[in-house]
Amino acid sequence: MALVSTKEMFQKAYEGGYAIGAFNVNNMEIIQGITEAAQEENSPLILQVSAGARKYARHNYLVKLVEAALLEADLPIALHLDHGDDFEICKACIDGGFSSVMIDGSKHSFEDNIILTKKVVEYAHERGVTVEGELGKLAGIEDDVNVSAEDASYTRPEEVEEFVSRTGVDSLAIAIGTSHGAFKFKPGQKPMLRFDILEEVERRLPNFPIVLHGASSVSQEFVKIIAANGGKMDDAIGIPEEMLRKAAGMAVCKINIDSDLRLAFTAGVREHLANNPSHFDPRQYLTKGRENIKTLVKHKIVNVLGSSGAAK
Ligand code: G3H
Ligand code: 13P
Ligand code: ZN
Repeated sequence: MALVSTKEMFQKAYEGGYAIGAFNVNNMEIIQGITEAAQEENSPLILQVSAGARKYARHNYLVKLVEAALLEADLPIALHLDHGDDFEICKACIDGGFSSVMIDGSKHSFEDNIILTKKVVEYAHERGVTVEGELGKLAGIEDDVNVSAEDASYTRPEEVEEFVSRTGVDSLAIAIGTSHGAFKFKPGQKPMLRFDILEEVERRLPNFPIVLHGASSVSQEFVKIIAANGGKMDDAIGIPEEMLRKAAGMAVCKINIDSDLRLAFTAGVREHLANNPSHFDPRQYLTKGRENIKTLVKHKIVNVLGSSGAAK
């Protein structure tokens, strides 16, 4: 099957009360683990690539690896740019084979965010590529963006209609209390999402797909394995899965997961090497990383996203 944009998959997800998992990919083992899980669960899939991933693995390698996944899996798969910072990176990905891009103008003023997002939408739509925009700022650390908790701000529902109608975006990422990375809440702090904001956005934008970034749950099972095998992950806290499941039943059609993949992969590699100190063949320890990715993604599809069986 060829790559698809997110248009049809979001429409079905909205109507079906589930969300599509958008998983960050950086190498072959991660792509294989995610795709095998989605194939076994017959779930639509978004494979997303950050600027950091393009720098690490390089654009052509990632596109070709995703094309290889398409040859093996009979599923609707979108290849999406995660957190495109400017027009140039979005253009490079659209010209270079991606079927969807995010332009993250959330660090700009409302007006500048609209101007930038609209420019990307015009270029993308002429080429059949869908666009995700963002309003509101998430706390947390990415390669190029480090937003402190003080600088983070929830999405203002009163801005969403104007943003969507003036830009023409196909989906909108909003900030309701999720954040990037593995340390989303302080120790002792109760995880909390602003469902009231999501409800108000949903009321103002009927039948419009909403995106949640920073939606890893940070499984304590993996945290413990990493800690038991020489890693340090004290105080890692994520978003409870029940909250994400609830959001997926609402207007949220795309849930972004990266940190959970990193934890699963690292737990596998650390555990394998601790149990087999004489191993030095990367295929041996990377196999365990890939297996953990597959187990994690199947769990997400069934228990969090609700997208199992939706790849009709
Ligand atoms: O939201 C950011 C993703 O987790 C990507 O992270 O920029 O380190 O690749 P990265
Ligand atoms: P996590 O760090 O919670 O996995 O979020 C990933 C993300 O939002 C990618 O855009
Ligand atoms: Zn993100």
